[in-house]
Amino acid sequence: MSAFANFWNRVRYSSWAPFYDLIAQHTRSMRCRSLAQLNLQPGERVLIVGAGTGLDLDLIATGPIVTATDLTPAMLERLRRRAARLGLAVDARVMDGQALEFADESFDAVILHFIVAVIPDPVRCMREAARVLRPGGRAVILDKFAPDDGPLPLWLRLLNPLASVLATHVNRRLGPLLAGSGLRVIHREPAALRGFFQIALAMKD
Ligand SMILES: C[S@@+](CC[C@H](N)C(=O)[O-])C[C@H]1O[C@@H](n2cnc3c(N)ncnc32)[C@H](O)[C@@H]1O
Repeated sequence: MSAFANFWNRVRYSSWAPFYDLIAQHTRSMRCRSLAQLNLQPGERVLIVGAGTGLDLDLIATGPIVTATDLTPAMLERLRRRAARLGLAVDARVMDGQALEFADESFDAVILHFIVAVIPDPVRCMREAARVLRPGGRAVILDKFAPDDGPLPLWLRLLNPLASVLATHVNRRLGPLLAGSGLRVIHREPAALRGFFQIALAMKD
């Protein structure tokens, strides 16, 4: 299941890659708010999982040591070009966010922007983020989520079959995902569209 889902993710995000920055330009202010929660410090080691074309790099000042991973080479190729343009030294690697090839406790901070609703197994992804974080390290999550409780709203039930094939799931619930992640929620806020987009800051104890 995960192998086919990863294959399909690579196919569809290779197709999206040339247009991704245009489609995702509306996410900039949400990213700013999420990264403000993370409050990165100079010299901190930060990992971006499912980093895509590197839109977050525009908002990370020089200072943190950035590692960026993604499953889709076409997305990472754009990220490498962006890093070069910005004069940032980024270690960019093709990697599955469900099986990170890093030792335990390798990072001070992890960025999970618009990956938790896309990756086949989001709990595995968040557990991997927790594993590679040092104790006291933080993670920010920014994505589209269904409400934690109650039945799934009709519009999400109708939208999910198409959205999940083309780009992203819209039926995942952040609270239950975080509960199984090994990360403790410090802060959570709605980011846009009446809380459909949400930001969470979590910590590894
Ligand atoms: C919606 S884009 C988000 C990109 C970026 N994080 C951003 O904020 O713009 C989702 C990204 O997840 C990547 N992806 C999908 N499955 C993945 C996996 N199993 N491991 C790592 N990245 C994956 C895709 O290649 C794509 O670049």
